Amino acid sequence: MDTARKLSPTTVTLHWIVAIMMIGLLGVGIYMEENEAFALYPWHKSFGVLIGVFVVLRVVWRIKNGWPPAAGDYTIWEKLLSKIVHYLLIIGTVLMPISGFMMSAMGGHGVAFFGIELFAPNPDPANPQEALPVNATLAQVGHVVHGLGGNILIGAIALHVIGALKHHIIDRDGTLRRMLGATV
Ligand code: HEM
Ligand code: HEM
Repeated sequence: MDTARKLSPTTVTLHWIVAIMMIGLLGVGIYMEENEAFALYPWHKSFGVLIGVFVVLRVVWRIKNGWPPAAGDYTIWEKLLSKIVHYLLIIGTVLMPISGFMMSAMGGHGVAFFGIELFAPNPDPANPQEALPVNATLAQVGHVVHGLGGNILIGAIALHVIGALKHHIIDRDGTLRRMLGATV
């Protein structure tokens, strides 16, 4: 169980697995799209599906366990802002794997998990190099959500990290140390 003095190993482990993979995938996603680095696409998709598994575990854990109680004396505004940001982060981590999967699968590009086919590609018989959309509308919705979601998440993560550092450096409370596994 999470308490004000100590977070459970499950909360800490899931937080850092998801956090590191999210930051990595956001960076790789933007890099590969801007530079048309198609060799990175299968890696991005595989790690994107993998993080989806951890995200589901994390959401189940949050629903079962509730949100961790505050580690310090936060003002009402800090509590509100951190709640909004935590919801944006959790919802963002759920929507990114789903929208990415939807855009790739419905766009006809297929999805594989480290070489294991999860959704077959749909090549155009007239031009097998090109993919034929399975459902162009769903692919487009996935693309828009993935692009927008990525940008919203970058803003939310920036606020989140600034907040964590503010607690550590200015307030000198146990918020960050607790998320690193310490008893505060
Ligand atoms: C938490 C997981 C994920 C994160 C944080 C993430 C993040 C991103 C970001 C930031 C971009 C660049 C978008 C842009 O600049 O408009 C991107 C592109 C892309 N993502 Fe993801 N992604 C995730 C999961 C997935 C999954 C599961 C798939 C597919 C199964 C996927 C497929 C793609 C593809 C194909 C692109 C390139 C789109 C294009 O070239 O138009 N992503 N991703
Ligand atoms: C270097 C980057 C990061 C640092 C230093 C950091 C730090 C922290 C800290 C100190 C807390 C505890 C806040 C509290 O007690 O109220 C926390 C909670 C949380 N963080 Fe992060 N975080 C980082 C990256 C991320 C990322 C990338 C995500 C997701 C995209 C994320 C999602 C969350 C969520 C949802 C919570 C609420 C508690 C939970 O569900 O585990 N964090 N983070």
